[in-house]
Amino acid sequence: MERQMIIASTLDELRAARLLLDGRVGLVPTMGYLHEGHLSLARRAREECDSVVATIFVNPTQFGPTEDLSKYPRNLKGDLSLLESAGVDLVWTPDNETIYPPGFSTWVEVEGLTKPLEGASRPGHFRGVTTVVAKLFNAVQPQAAYFGQKDAQQAAVIRKMARDLNFPIEIVVCPTVREADGLAMSSRNSYLSPEERQAATVLSRALTAAKSAHEHGERNADTLRRIMSETLAAEPSAQMQYVSVADYDTLEELQTVMGKTLLSMAVFMGKTRLIDNFVIGE
Ligand SMILES: Nc1ncnc2c1ncn2[C@@H]1O[C@H](COP(=O)(O)OP(=O)(O)OP(=O)(O)O)[C@@H](O)[C@H]1O
Ligand SMILES: [Mg+2]
Repeated sequence: MERQMIIASTLDELRAARLLLDGRVGLVPTMGYLHEGHLSLARRAREECDSVVATIFVNPTQFGPTEDLSKYPRNLKGDLSLLESAGVDLVWTPDNETIYPPGFSTWVEVEGLTKPLEGASRPGHFRGVTTVVAKLFNAVQPQAAYFGQKDAQQAAVIRKMARDLNFPIEIVVCPTVREADGLAMSSRNSYLSPEERQAATVLSRALTAAKSAHEHGERNADTLRRIMSETLAAEPSAQMQYVSVADYDTLEELQTVMGKTLLSMAVFMGKTRLIDNFVIGE
């Protein structure tokens, strides 16, 4: 018999519903406005766990002062029906006051790994991410938690946090889900004008060009960075923020590509900031 998906909003409701879940519990944290990327995490959790919990919370502390939190896309009704069809057992939709009670002043911060790339471009972003994810871990107490490779540095930072803080939670990183033309799915893609949407394929095209040069024997990291930045520069509506060729584990920029390597970039398409990455040399 199909069980009905439970929707909890307060912390008490969440805790009461969590007590009824058996076995291995998988957590899928999201900011909502769900797409196939999110659903791939929920389906993977469904396969690997006895019970699946998803959270929808647009976390204010991971947005910078110039990033428009108030315009973040929302569609709670649509999200709930997608989660239900992905087989989720319990959805938690906490409000801001539950996650950040009045006078809130306790933060979780991962040093080192959060410095480069997204951390350099978005000061304070990862402090917001790790704080909210630690709170979700404490509230839901999952055995496994599912994150997307699209946010490669976030996945690395959360894995480090879980290890450093002894969370008994397996961190599972799932492949990036893409549109047919290669654009990585993202809730923020909904901000793109039709012209920007077309031009946004430049991110995956730049990554593909660098990957292919690597496959043909190119090991000079500067050359790979140049291939990516030149591909981006050829697209007039794209404004590169960074391109990176970094060690997969430490995220330090490389001179020479040897082992597992993260190619990554952040690009403005008009006012919309997009990120994407490929892993090479596996
Ligand atoms: N295309 C994708 N493929 C796989 N996982 C994804 C994809 N996009 C997002 N995720 C993962 O879904 C989880 C929730 O992400 P989030 O709700 O921020 O979605 P998002 O599309 O990245 O939104 P935004 O663009 O605003 O950051 C994260 O673990 C993220 O890595
Ligand atoms: Mg995101």
